[in-house]
Amino acid sequence: MKIVSSKELLILAKKRNRAICAFNVNNMELIQAITSAADETKTGVILQASAGAVKYAGITYIRKLVEAAAESISVPVALHLDHGDSFEACKMAVDGGFTSVMIDGSHLPFEDNIKLTKKVVDYAHKKGVSVEGELGQIAGVEDEVSAEHSHYTDPAMAREFVEKTGVDSLAVSIGTAHGAFKYKSAPKFAFDVLEQIQKEIPNTPLVLHGASSVVPEAVATINKFGGKIENAMGVSEETLAKSIPLGVRKINIDSDLRLVFTATLREYFAKNPAQFDPRGYLKEAREQVKQLVIKKLKVFSV
Ligand code: G3H
Ligand code: 13P
Ligand code: ZN
Repeated sequence: MKIVSSKELLILAKKRNRAICAFNVNNMELIQAITSAADETKTGVILQASAGAVKYAGITYIRKLVEAAAESISVPVALHLDHGDSFEACKMAVDGGFTSVMIDGSHLPFEDNIKLTKKVVDYAHKKGVSVEGELGQIAGVEDEVSAEHSHYTDPAMAREFVEKTGVDSLAVSIGTAHGAFKYKSAPKFAFDVLEQIQKEIPNTPLVLHGASSVVPEAVATINKFGGKIENAMGVSEETLAKSIPLGVRKINIDSDLRLVFTATLREYFAKNPAQFDPRGYLKEAREQVKQLVIKKLKVFSV
């Protein structure tokens, strides 16, 4: 299949009252693992690259790898820029063949966020590319943008933001956080705020960032085989899935892929000290990421 627009996938998710998973990618093995899991579970998926991923792999490599993966499966795949932090970054992704972009102006004053987001929307829409905006601050590191604490999205402002910018989807802050060290104690999500946001903008797909569960088994394996990941804490998929009936249509997952990939490599090296063929250990990591993605897709998408 060809790469499709994220909008198409989000509309499909709404019809089915499910969410599309958006997984962060930056290399061939991750792309293969995710698309093969999507194919096996017969569900569409969004592959997204951050500015850091684009810098690491190169925009052409990312697009061509995703194109190659999309061609070899029979479910739709979209290619999205995650946390674009400027008009120029979004323009580069639009011109580089991405089918949707996120412009993250959440750290800016409200009016400036509207202005920047609208500029991206005007450019992207002309080229048939859809745009995700963000309002409210999600804790954790967001590429160039960093927020120490989350500030919930204000529902009335969300409506004004969507009306004035014309964004196709909106990332909201309801208490989730980025990274592997999300919480110090069990988090309480503001599902009531989410409900109010949905009432204000019922036709806008909502996006949940920071939706890794911080897979405890992967953290334990990393630490067992020489790693040092302390105080990692996430939240169960079942809790995150409660956001879906409240309008969340895109669920962003990155950290869990990194944890499972790393755990697999650490265990492999510890158990196979004489092996040095990358195909051996990368194949193993790719398979474990695939199994993780199948699990996520079954909870959120299928
Ligand atoms: O939300 C941020 C994503 O996990 C991307 O992280 O900037 O390290 O690629 P990154
Ligand atoms: P996690 O760090 O929870 O995987 O969040 C990823 C994300 O929101 C990417 O935009
Ligand atoms: Zn994010």
